[in-house]
Amino acid sequence: MTSLINKTLNDYINTLPEGKLKEAIFYALLGDGKRVRPLLAISLLQSKNIDPTPYLDVLCAVELIHTYSLIHDDLPAMDDDTLRRGKPTVHIKFDEATAILAGDALLTDSFYLVANSKVLSGDLKSKIIEILSKKSGSTGMVLGQIYDIESENKQIDINHLNKMYELKTSNLIQASLMIASAIAAPSKIDKFEQLGYYIGLIYQIQDDILEHTLTIEEFGKSKSDDIRNKPTYVSLIGLDKSKELLMSYSNLLSELFSELKLNNTLFDEQIKSLLNRKK
Ligand code: IPE
Ligand code: IPE
Ligand code: MG
Ligand code: MG
Repeated sequence: MTSLINKTLNDYINTLPEGKLKEAIFYALLGDGKRVRPLLAISLLQSKNIDPTPYLDVLCAVELIHTYSLIHDDLPAMDDDTLRRGKPTVHIKFDEATAILAGDALLTDSFYLVANSKVLSGDLKSKIIEILSKKSGSTGMVLGQIYDIESENKQIDINHLNKMYELKTSNLIQASLMIASAIAAPSKIDKFEQLGYYIGLIYQIQDDILEHTLTIEEFGKSKSDDIRNKPTYVSLIGLDKSKELLMSYSNLLSELFSELKLNNTLFDEQIKSLLNRKK
């Protein structure tokens, strides 16, 4: 499935004019990303017996937004990181202006991919654009990123940390699931939004645990939370309690899974491999 996603991303890149912008987008997008968000959406369609092929560009739109968020997140003005997906970050490999513009282009182009779909109805396109913009912008991921920046060197409580993680990480996962649900199970969008909330929180708690336990080489990206004095689950409640919390969210996720009759589907498999990730 990852190769299908990479082919779709490559097809998008091939439409871009030659030059530095295209090179930077190619470098960022075709790095060693895990493709979590499109993988979840694709497996959800497959679990509903829908062939994802005609929708691949639409399902990859969120990967463009995710990649833009990472390029900007690594900039000196934000986390100031030098390693991402096992390689120098975009502003290190190119320069800051190119990194900012590559991010801007990826964000904008993601909406073009949806608008330009040859298979979606006009109504479905506008629904998907609404989901994408709501979960990415000033009420979604970007809001989470500003909370994150504001939390540096601050004492915050676990509820605030949860809200921040919901916005910066759950929101794009929710967008992916809600888009797949808009195509395959429109009456269940709210349930998939809830599912994405839990998956995002679990994913982010895992990220905090992995950042705490892996080496930089194993992790494939810089470990700047400590250096920048950012609150994480591990720094706020410790490793053992973080693992306990992870378990309790996993149990809530399982309940929702049964309710949605998703047990033993491809989607179920995908979630299990995601939640057992080692990097
Ligand atoms: C990294 O996301 C940022 C977080 C939300 C933890 P991923 O772990 O999905 O990063 P890639 O796409 O695989 O590099
Ligand atoms: C990455 O967040 C960007 C978004 C989640 C939008 P982080 O700063 O927490 O993650 P890493 O450690 O750089 O991947
Ligand atoms: Mg950050
Ligand atoms: Mg970061």
